[in-house]
Amino acid sequence: MKRLIVGAIFLLGYGTLHAQKPNYDESKMPPYTLPDPLKMENGQAVTSAKMWKEKRRPEIQKLFETHVYGKAPAHPKDLHFKVLNEDKYAVGNMATRKEVAVYFTKDEKQFMTVLMYIPNKRKGAVPMFFGLNFKGNHSVSEDPGITQSVIRMKPGPDGVEGRTGVFKRGAEASRWPIEMLIANGYAVATVYRGDIDPDYDDGYQNGVQPLFYKEGQTRPAADEWGTLAAWAWGLSCAMDYFKTDPDIDSEKVAVVGHSRHGKTALWTAAIDPRFAMAISNDSGCGGAALTKRIYGETVSIVNKLFPHWFCDNFKKYNDKEELLPVDQHQLIALMAPRPVYIASAIDDKWADPKGEFLSGVHAEPVYKLFGLDGLNTTKMPAVDQPIREGSIGYHVRTGDHDINLYDWQQFVKFADQFFK
Ligand code: GCU
Repeated sequence: MKRLIVGAIFLLGYGTLHAQKPNYDESKMPPYTLPDPLKMENGQAVTSAKMWKEKRRPEIQKLFETHVYGKAPAHPKDLHFKVLNEDKYAVGNMATRKEVAVYFTKDEKQFMTVLMYIPNKRKGAVPMFFGLNFKGNHSVSEDPGITQSVIRMKPGPDGVEGRTGVFKRGAEASRWPIEMLIANGYAVATVYRGDIDPDYDDGYQNGVQPLFYKEGQTRPAADEWGTLAAWAWGLSCAMDYFKTDPDIDSEKVAVVGHSRHGKTALWTAAIDPRFAMAISNDSGCGGAALTKRIYGETVSIVNKLFPHWFCDNFKKYNDKEELLPVDQHQLIALMAPRPVYIASAIDDKWADPKGEFLSGVHAEPVYKLFGLDGLNTTKMPAVDQPIREGSIGYHVRTGDHDINLYDWQQFVKFADQFFK
């Protein structure tokens, strides 16, 4: 509700800037045609898993890179890691807490800190959930051993960008049920997104993008990475570390995220097939929701609220969704044959629960090519009735925009089917 009010006030303020108001009426949606995931751009039908993997999948990934998220560079040649500290007696002795620096540069000036909890009761390497947090690593638990993240915000009159003490320890603990995950045999890891690229429109000066600017370049080209793609790139760099950590089964890492981080989780798994599973929670526009439905948040709205998230080309589709050569069911299809879970909340209309469900429905033909079931239904389930028979899972829970224990419990049950 609060989000809706904030959204409404914002939209009133920007009313003159864009004609489009969010639509919440199914009967007012324009008719739309979704691009066929199984039809090549030259019109040829995709008839095998091999053809999907070798021809169509790269084509779709390229379309998303060019028109939606922007293309990210290869990982830095100087990428390296350091375990900063380790405590075997965390979470009431149930887990080992570790903080790992992932350095993007040789001089170690630019880096992100990965916070990890690994179950002590384990025989060998364990599967893991991994995703970004909103308020700093120290916000995911009251654990006093977590190093405070420096919160990166648009500088105030004092010109200072990085601040500590903005968010309390444990401020986001309800979104990270660490004990439950540990008790179920999963490790959990997280990164503060501001370590990779701060979440405000800074003209791409303060994140990882400048590390890759060519001489004279001051911002990414129209088809190069925006902030969501930078976050995804950062998570993919962390995977390079997980590959070296004997406690983690790097072939069983699910990338998970809520909202903007859900958009990021899907894009991360799209660009990095080493992630074995993707989980999107209330990711909405530019995440799991079908863009061409024009329900709730739209391209022009998200681009105006968050001009830095997507690549500059995406702005060409403001109020012109019908011209987009891709839609988000194809993003879900990029996960195939890996399992993917989509979660919605019934009151989170801004994120278009039905549009999120339909993305799963329309991704299914690609899973079928692999001999797998997707959702196995075209009928949206009732609230709190998860679907997890096939390789695409879905639930719409009671309540509003958030990620809570109920959501995580479903993710665990879904992951258990593939990882245990
Ligand atoms: C805003 C934005 C959404 C986004 C959400 C979030 O509501 O419009 O696109 O998903 O923030 O990240 O919480």
